[in-house]
Order: sequence, then C-alpha cells, then structure tokens
Amino acid sequence: AINISKLRESTGLITFDPGLKNTGITKSSISFIDGEKGELLYRGYPIEQIINQCSFIETSYLILNGELPNTAQLKSFSEKVKKFSFIHHKDINKILDNIPVFYHPMGILSSLTYILDAFMNSIQEEDLYLHLLAKLPILAALTYRKRMGLPPVCADPYLDYTSNLLKMFFSVPNKSYEPNPIISDTLNKILILHADHEQNCSTTTVRLLGSVHVGLFSSISAGMSALWGKLHGGANQAVIEMLEDILKSGGNIKKWIEKAKNKKDPFRLMGFGHRIYKNFDPRAKIAKKVAENVIQKLGISDPILKLAKNVEKKALQDSYFLEKKLYPNIDFYSGIIYQAIGIPKDMFTVMFALGRLPGWMAHWKEMKLNKEPIGRPRQVYTGYKKRNIK
Ligand code: ACO
Repeated sequence: AINISKLRESTGLITFDPGLKNTGITKSSISFIDGEKGELLYRGYPIEQIINQCSFIETSYLILNGELPNTAQLKSFSEKVKKFSFIHHKDINKILDNIPVFYHPMGILSSLTYILDAFMNSIQEEDLYLHLLAKLPILAALTYRKRMGLPPVCADPYLDYTSNLLKMFFSVPNKSYEPNPIISDTLNKILILHADHEQNCSTTTVRLLGSVHVGLFSSISAGMSALWGKLHGGANQAVIEMLEDILKSGGNIKKWIEKAKNKKDPFRLMGFGHRIYKNFDPRAKIAKKVAENVIQKLGISDPILKLAKNVEKKALQDSYFLEKKLYPNIDFYSGIIYQAIGIPKDMFTVMFALGRLPGWMAHWKEMKLNKEPIGRPRQVYTGYKKRNIK
C-alpha cells in the first residue's frame, strides 16, 4: 500500500479538493448514508425503523453508545438526564440579560452553550454528554422565553424528554400546562430525523475543534455556529420565508423555479439539493408524512404545506432539477412541522441543533477514542512570490 504521508513528504504533493467533496476525513461507525439509494442508517438501523420504534432519548443512547438500550439502561440514562436538567439560572440569566433581545436565537444558544462550559468543572466525561443532553433544551427554552418576555421555567422530572421540552417552552405563569401528546410525538420524530448525518459541515466542525483538544461544550457551540448557515441547518427558516414569499407574490411557482434555474440570479430553491443524496433524502420523505399527519391531527389549515407539495411536484417535473439530481432535503418540510407545533421561524434552527446534539457528541467522543490527529488541511497558494519591501 502507498504511504500517503511519506509520498507527500518526499514529493510535496497534496490533494486539491475544494469543499472536501471527495475527502474522507475520518473513519466513523455512527451513521451511514447511501446517497444513490436514499438510505440512512444510525448504527446500522434504518431511519424508517427508528422513527417508528424509538424515542429521541433511546435514539440518543444508540447514537452515543452504539447499541439500543435495554429497559434498565434506558431507565438509568433517562433518570440521569432528568437529574442533570438544571442550570445555574442566576448566572446564566445575568448573561442573557446582557445579550440584545433582537439577536438571532442561534447566536444566543451557541453563546450560552459556550459559557456553560464554565460551570462544568470536575465532571466525568461520560456524564458531560448527559449534562449537555439535559441542559441544551433548558438553554433553548430560556432563549425563546426571553424573547417572549416570559420568566424561566424549571424542568419537570415527571415528563418525558420532549413533553418536558414543550413545557419549558410554552407554559405561561399561573396556568397549568398539559403537553399535547400529538405535539410531543411529532417533536420526538423531528428530533430523531436530525440526530446524526455523518460528516456534514457542523459535525466536521465539532470534530475539527475536538482534534485540537477543545472541550465538548465549546466544540458543540462551534458546531451550532456552522449549523446556523443558510446552506446548512439555517435552510429550514429560509424555506418557510421562501414559501411565504411565493404565496405573497401570488403563488406563481413556475416563476420562482425559473429564478432558481437562472445562473445570473443567486437565488436557489431552498430545501432542495444535497451533497450526498442524489436520488432522494429519506428524511424528507418521512418529514413530509409527519407534516401531513400533524397538520391533519391538529386540524390546522396550512396553505404553506399545500404550496410546498406543489413546489416539489413542479420542480421534479423540470429537467434542470432532474438532471442535477436536486430533490427536497430534510429542511424542505421540517419548518412546516415546527410551525404547526408552535415554534417561531427564527427558532427552527435551534430545534435542529437540539436534534443534532447526540450526533455531534458521538462524533466528538469517537474522534477522541480514535486518537485522531489535529485536523489541519493544506492549501494551494496563489499569492505573491517572495518579494521585498521597498
Ligand atoms: N436550487 C437551484 N440550483 C441548485 C440548488 C438549488 N437548491 N442546489 C444546487 N443547485 C445547482 C447549483 O447551482 C449547481 O449548478 P451547476 O452545476 O450548473 O453550477 C449544481 O446544482 C450543484 O450544486 P452545488 O452547490 O455544487 O452542490 P453542493 O453539493 O456543493 O451543495 C447544497 C449542496 C449546498 C445543499 C445545495 O444543493 C444548496 O445550496 N441547496 C439549497 C440550500 C439547502 O437546502 N440547504 C440544506 C441542505 S441539507 C442540510 O444541511 C441540513
């Protein structure tokens, strides 16, 4: 076999691969994507089976530990998460009070996650994962409630993970709050759909930071900043804004499709296309069904879902999208689901982050276990040759 390191040292050769389109940066056993078949496996299990048979907390256990938990393992895992569901409200609130209220929730969430690191001294690594799983929903809820002018709410240990999350978001003072099981189940499903997705931009960011020994909370905070980008997790907000714009401008789908095809126009059909899926994104298929189901069960009349389905239909009749293999991705329908369960647009990517958390943590853990070297790519220099200051 060729020793690439030796070859590089002796010849100075490097691979030039902008966007790392063909570069495997690690070996991983967490999730597997077959982009041609439209297949996604978490630790070997098809996403279609997980979505129907597991809760988000079981999926988190699977992703972090490699196997599904038995009853006792699940009980102990869930109880620990509940035990760690607290934060130092006084200190975090002081910080939150100094962040402008108009700042985007993703910026707030990643800042608070970074700062939380300060309170995580002398905690064993195995518990750190559970602390973050427990505490991120609290930070997300605080971010939302600050916007809404609502006081913080403590976690409810009698509720399951997603029902507790909903209560921490939506309960209001002096009123009892009963999480709706339809909404709780929907949230479970959408979080599972986001739980891991091999070397996407945010996950690779988390691994890169971990490789230079940045701590778990700070690495995850950086992953959130990467996720925020419109071409990545921020697409869910951009999709709904685009669909609303289509609706406002009279619903002429063809005109918007032509706009997306026009190379002189930077506009892209948001929620379409994927680096790996060149057939369909299995998560988008499931998300579409989850969206239809929750909207029907809650009795919502949502013109946006109908419009989205029409956009999908029209785009997939167009040779541009077919030839470039551009199909709806997870973000095309996820925002419709969030909207149906009461999450405001600028919180969509925050929900994505809550779902992606187990994946980010598993990659950070795997990178450490593999004792991976620091992530340090090369470049092709195109600047000045050596010159002198006159
Ligand atoms: N609308 C119109 N044209 C598109 C779109 C789109 N949504 N996506 C890709 N194309 C075109 C590109 O213009 C390019 O055309 P060309 O070959 O004539 O230059 C071709 O398809 C390939 O596109 P790339 O950007 O090179 O593909 P890449 O794999 O690098 O990007 C990406 C994938 C970023 C997802 C892209 O499809 C895109 O921008 N989609 C819209 C944003 C989006 O939905 N992001 C969410 C992704 S899923 C996630 O991160 C959770």
